[in-house]
Amino acid sequence: MGTSPRQQILKAHMKASQFLISTLKEAPADAEVISHQLMMRAGMIKRLGAGIYTLMPMGLRVVQKVANIVREEMNRAGAVELSMPVIQPAELWQETGRFEKMGPELLRIKDRHSRDFVVQPTSEEVITDTARQELRSYKQLPKNLYQIQTKFRDERRPRFGLMRGREFIMKDAYSFDKDHASAQASYENMARAYRAIFDRFGLVYRAVAADSGAIGGDLSEEFQVIAATGEDAIVYCPQSDYAANMEKAEAAAPTKARAAPTEALKQTPTPGKSTCSDVAELLGVALQRTIKSLVLATDELNEDGSVAKSVVWLLMLRGDHDMNEVKVGKLPGMEGGFRFATLVEIEEHFGCKPGYLGPLNLLKPVHIVVDREVAVMSDWICGANVEDFHMTGVNWGRDLPEPDLVADIRNVVAGDLSPDGKGELLIERGIEVGHIFYLGTKYSKAMNATFLDVDGKPKPFEMGCYGIGVTRISAAAIEQSHDDKGIIWPDAIAPFSVVICPIGMDRSDAVREHAVALYEQLLQAGVDVMLDDRGERPGVMFAEWELIGVPHRLTVGEKALKEGQVEYQHRRDAQASKVAIDQVFDHVMASLKAR
Ligand SMILES: Nc1ncnc2c1ncn2[C@@H]1O[C@H](COP(=O)(O)OP(=O)(O)O)[C@@H](O)[C@H]1O
Ligand SMILES: [Mg+2]
Repeated sequence: MGTSPRQQILKAHMKASQFLISTLKEAPADAEVISHQLMMRAGMIKRLGAGIYTLMPMGLRVVQKVANIVREEMNRAGAVELSMPVIQPAELWQETGRFEKMGPELLRIKDRHSRDFVVQPTSEEVITDTARQELRSYKQLPKNLYQIQTKFRDERRPRFGLMRGREFIMKDAYSFDKDHASAQASYENMARAYRAIFDRFGLVYRAVAADSGAIGGDLSEEFQVIAATGEDAIVYCPQSDYAANMEKAEAAAPTKARAAPTEALKQTPTPGKSTCSDVAELLGVALQRTIKSLVLATDELNEDGSVAKSVVWLLMLRGDHDMNEVKVGKLPGMEGGFRFATLVEIEEHFGCKPGYLGPLNLLKPVHIVVDREVAVMSDWICGANVEDFHMTGVNWGRDLPEPDLVADIRNVVAGDLSPDGKGELLIERGIEVGHIFYLGTKYSKAMNATFLDVDGKPKPFEMGCYGIGVTRISAAAIEQSHDDKGIIWPDAIAPFSVVICPIGMDRSDAVREHAVALYEQLLQAGVDVMLDDRGERPGVMFAEWELIGVPHRLTVGEKALKEGQVEYQHRRDAQASKVAIDQVFDHVMASLKAR
């Protein structure tokens, strides 16, 4: 059977002697997480600068497999691939205001004529510009356009290797629809495609509801690879399909009625105890009886951007709860953004320094917002607005007026009741690898991107955007799947599916012939197989492939061959098993299919 020239080239590249394998004994000191350590040690990536890496041949193969799965499923879902420039003229970014508004993550550069450019962190502006030129009629809609392209975000803390790089590869897709209903269908189409994509990687993941920002609605989901080292906290209910990220997650509203007061209001000395937990410990009460006071401020600006007026807010949370910034940002009056109050503002309104603040005995009125759980508390403890003192036995209605504004302003905690009432919420860690988002007309309106609708009138496109962190997925896979020997790749994204390790290939004709024959046979069958023809000692060779994480290994040795056998070992198996030579091909093919 002849092989095409293309196959010949592929073959040549899959021999270890010709490939570039560059494993390291030790990970560099800056590699904090296991995926970063293992990617460096396995020679998948090489650091060029902070958050900037060369994808070495072994790493590139993984990234290409991830990209191909993404591409296949995007195409299957009816999306169309294009490629937009990495360097983009600033004019488009000025149209949406993002050139000025975005922080230093947006890398701005100048060309030789002093014209401004940006390095794309994402590409809403360019795609919207393309759409307004090319999509003129409702008859051309819906359209979904995507690219798999280099992105640059000048992250404040690039870290964890490919997990949070500055330069990385993202698949970004953008949908254009004629109305909301159709945009919703496009979004759901992507939601399905993403499930198909993430199913194929062979990783444990969860799709969680995410915050959709100011646009509202529930059309935003993140795809999270579950890993103990993940940067995101994700919330789910094992008894139902409720799942959300921490920003978005809600608990059911408290149902119990507020108990009647039993204690008298008292100013209690708490010298040096400025945190809720210290106060609870000193007074011998549960942390849940204490109240945390957070002082925020909002600014009203003049035309010229100077501050016209500032408003001070007091947010009250149960001592064991944390503020949720996204929820707070949605409170009436907070939409324009908020900040922590300054020490001067705090002194002026509370007459006291932080650590002993509360809603009683204020010098000047503040906007008070009370978490739902705080509103049903009685006999609670809060700062006295006197240094080294707290108030105990505080009760709504009796000691201070009923709260003006009661809202959900906290992060959920494990054990909270799910908002669907079906069970308790649990929290696990995840790595955000994908994000789908309904955008509405935010960009199309800003850029005057319209099409002619059925009635002949121009209408702004309804848009959605859909990202996948292609390079991040390779790191996330390692976080989820490794052991003390190295990486364990799922078949779908392994750099090579099978490695053949011949022992003493240079000394034994039988070993060489069998190894090469197996290699050719697997290549012919379309298997991504690597032949390690370097003549390394077995221990060294095995350790290296275990570090690299190739899932299936065949060992061809003289001793086993004499018994008509070859050894097969899956990367997860504790031991190799012997397989008859005439069955080994079928055995490998079956193992590949089984996974
Ligand atoms: N610094 C980064 N390094 C690697 N991948 C990233 C980085 N930032 C974002 N990504 C990936 O790109 C996807 C889409 O990005 P997006 O949702 O816009 O980012 P973010 O959630 O950081 O605002 C993310 O889900 C993530 O997988
Ligand atoms: Mg995101």
